[in-house]
Amino acid sequence: MAPLPSKLAYVPFVSVENMMRLVHHIGIEKVLTDLADQIEADFRRWPLFDKTPRVASHSDVGVIELMPTSDGETYGFKYVNGHPKNMAEGLQTVTAFGLLADVNSGYPKLLSEMTLLTALRTAATSAMAARHLAPKGARTMAMIGNGAQSEFQCLAFKAVCGIDSVRLYDIDPAATERCARNLAGSGLTVVKCRSSQEAIEGAQIITTCTADKQYATILTDNMVGSGVHINAIGGDCPGKTELHRDILLRSRIFVEYPPQTRIEGEIQQLDPDHAVTELWQVIAGDVAGRADDRQITLFDSVGFAIEDFSALRYVAQAIAGTPFFTRLDMIADPDDPRDLFGMFQRAADSVAA
Ligand SMILES: NC(=O)c1ccc[n+]([C@@H]2O[C@H](COP(=O)([O-])OP(=O)(O)OC[C@H]3O[C@@H](n4cnc5c(N)ncnc54)[C@H](O)[C@@H]3O)[C@@H](O)[C@H]2O)c1
Repeated sequence: MAPLPSKLAYVPFVSVENMMRLVHHIGIEKVLTDLADQIEADFRRWPLFDKTPRVASHSDVGVIELMPTSDGETYGFKYVNGHPKNMAEGLQTVTAFGLLADVNSGYPKLLSEMTLLTALRTAATSAMAARHLAPKGARTMAMIGNGAQSEFQCLAFKAVCGIDSVRLYDIDPAATERCARNLAGSGLTVVKCRSSQEAIEGAQIITTCTADKQYATILTDNMVGSGVHINAIGGDCPGKTELHRDILLRSRIFVEYPPQTRIEGEIQQLDPDHAVTELWQVIAGDVAGRADDRQITLFDSVGFAIEDFSALRYVAQAIAGTPFFTRLDMIADPDDPRDLFGMFQRAADSVAA
């Protein structure tokens, strides 16, 4: 009879079902607020992380990416795809899973679904950035692109920034209908709009979260007045942007990790040395955020590995002592570390039995 795997061989695994149960158990607005705080805390210690632009494998229809980082004690990575054409085929545009490991032993310590977690962490990061950059007293947000990420974005801005009204627009009215329906009862005033122009009327924050594998112009320069904060989520691949270049030239631009954002973000439209501010420096108090009421601030978000690392660590803490995970027999870990083959050989008995 083969010996049972050791304790270290079992890796806690959070399935999609358990992630949903965990978030309902805690409450989604609390999760979004906690995630914003955890991501902010990790941005504050930004210099000590290993950082690299994500490793992207592009095809004509989408991208598959690996996003690694480490804080010296814990290593993490996310696998994520982006396939704008998927939605029309009944599939998600973005799916993901991720892993944390112990730097000391190299053994994994968490495996988790991250499709839902990416939506949560993206929304929490956006709202955390807006907490530092949006005009004071902002209450209304335009939400352009009403797909999978959109409700999460709206709820994060409510929970973290105090937004009480959202103005929705999507080229597909059915997406706007669904988003509005899902937000009913959330406490947000929801206004369905027929154009981007209508959506941004009276909004102090504009979130663009559309999916298109090409340069798109969701906002043109004449649409954007002074003093707003733009949270640009959907432009996150080479050749995939949402804002007209002239808006960028009028804005103070904040980014996650410049070497990645210059390849993937809105700023791929600008000269490679165009001045941008790293968000972590604002959070650490090294650089001022919004200068005045008239400035246009732009968070050119592409999603960075440290946000996923923070989200996975949050999940690892949150599942402790709960039933919201299972244990996977994932690591071959014989009692005698050199007897990997012996462990394999003994397993023959259980096959024969
Ligand atoms: N920055 C980040 O960290 C981050 C994280 C996750 C996803 N994303 C990106 O955000 C985008 C949205 O993701 P999703 O999962 O919600 O995608 P989705 O396919 O579910 O939704 C996209 C929506 O945009 C709409 N749309 C497309 N073109 C439009 C236009 N011109 N005007 C208005 N609406 C338009 C579509 O009809 C669709 O409803 C994707 O591009 C994705 O890659 C970024």
